[in-house]
Amino acid sequence: MSQNILVTGGAGFIGSHTCVALAAAGYAPVILDNLGNSDVRVLERLERITGARPRFIEGDVRDRALLDKLFREQPIGGVIHFAGLKAVGDSVADPITYYDNNVNGTFVLAAAMQAAAVRTLIFSSSATVYGDPDRSPIPEDAPLRPANPYGRSKLMVEQALADLHRANPAWRIALLRYFNPVGAHESGLIGEHPQGKPNNLMPFVSQVAVGLRDKLAVHGGDYPTPDGTGVRDYVHVMDLAEGHVAALRHAEKQPGLVTLNLGTGQGASVLDVVKAFERASGQRIAYEIGPRRPGDVPAYWGDPTLAQATLGWRASRSVDQMCADSWRWQQANPNGYA
Ligand code: NAD
Ligand code: UD1
Repeated sequence: MSQNILVTGGAGFIGSHTCVALAAAGYAPVILDNLGNSDVRVLERLERITGARPRFIEGDVRDRALLDKLFREQPIGGVIHFAGLKAVGDSVADPITYYDNNVNGTFVLAAAMQAAAVRTLIFSSSATVYGDPDRSPIPEDAPLRPANPYGRSKLMVEQALADLHRANPAWRIALLRYFNPVGAHESGLIGEHPQGKPNNLMPFVSQVAVGLRDKLAVHGGDYPTPDGTGVRDYVHVMDLAEGHVAALRHAEKQPGLVTLNLGTGQGASVLDVVKAFERASGQRIAYEIGPRRPGDVPAYWGDPTLAQATLGWRASRSVDQMCADSWRWQQANPNGYA
C-alpha cells in the first residue's frame, strides 16, 4: 500500500498536527485544503518540524474533477478526512452551507475514492453526536442525539459511511469521535488560531494570558459539578494526531468499520483549566462567572476503553501539558501564522 496519505483539511488545527504524526510514522501526507479556515504558512512550519514539506493542493473537497485528478496523479494509500466546518452557532444560522461542506463534501470524496479504488478512510466525527448524554463516561453505543446542524451533519456522515461499508465490505473505515481537542505541538511552531473572537475555552484562555483579551467569561457557575463550572474531556491534539495514525494502521491491517471515542476518559472543569493555564504560563487569568451559554451541556467525558483495546492507543498528555504547549504556541505566535 502506498505511504501517501491524503489529508483533507490538513492545513487546519487537527489536520496539521496529524501531518506531523504521519511523517513521524513514515507516511507522506498529501494535503488538500481550500484554506477557508487555515493559513498556507503552516506548510513552512510543518517543513521545519518534519524536515519535509508536505505536498499541498489548494482546492475544495467538493470538487470531483480535482479529486479524480489527484487520485490519478499519484498513488494514495488512504484518506484522513478533516475538511469541514465546525462552528456550532454558524451551523444553526446557515445549515445548508454546513450540510453542503460536511455531508456533501464527504459524499463527493467517498465517490472519488470508490472510483479510484482507494477504500481506506478515517473520518473526523465528534462527541457532539451524543448530545446531552445520560451518563459519563460515554461509551460508543450510547444514544445518538445531536442538538444542532453541525452535530447532525457528523451523524449523517457516520450513517452514510456505515451504509457504504455494508454495501461493499472491502472498505476500511474508522469513525473517530473526538472529545475536546486542545494544545499544540510541543515545538510551539503549529497550533490553533481561531479567526475573530474564540468560541472555545482554551483559545480564549490563551488569548487572555497573552494580553489579547481582558478576561474570560465563564459560562455558568451553577452547574451540578464539583466547582459549578462545565466539565469536559480535553484531549491533547498530539494524542489525537497519534490516534489517527493508530486508526490508519488498524485499517490497513483489516477491512471493516470501527467507531471509536478519542478522549482521555477524564473530565476537567473550566476552573481546572484556568488554574492549569496559570501554572503553565505564570500569568494570572482574569475571569468572571456569568450566565450559562445556551445549548451547553453541564458535564461529559468519554469512555476511551474501546479505542485502547482496538488501536492500542491511549491519550497520555495531561491538562498541564495541554496548557504548557498552548501557551508556548500562543506566546511565540500571538497573531497565529501572520
Ligand atoms: P479547522 O477548521 O482548523 O480545520 C479544517 C480544515 O478544513 C481547514 O483548514 C479548512 O480550511 C478546511 N476545509 C473546510 N472545508 C473545506 C472544503 N470544503 N474543502 C477543503 N478544505 C476545507 O478545524 P479542526 O479543529 O482542525 O477540525 C478538523 C475536523 O475535526 C473537522 O471536521 C471538525 O468538525 C472535526 N472536529 C473538530 C473538533 C474540534 O474541537 N476542533 C472536535 C470534534 C470534531
Ligand atoms: C464545543 C462545541 C462542540 C465541539 C467542541 C470542540 C458547542 C455547543 N459545542 O463544545 O460541538 O465539538 O466545542 O471542542 O459549541 N466556556 C467558558 N467560556 C468560554 C468558552 C467556553 O466558560 O469563553 C466553557 C463552556 O461553557 C464549556 C467549556 O468551557 O463548559 C468548554 O467549552 P468549548 O471549548 O466551547 O467546548 P464545548 O462546549 O465542549
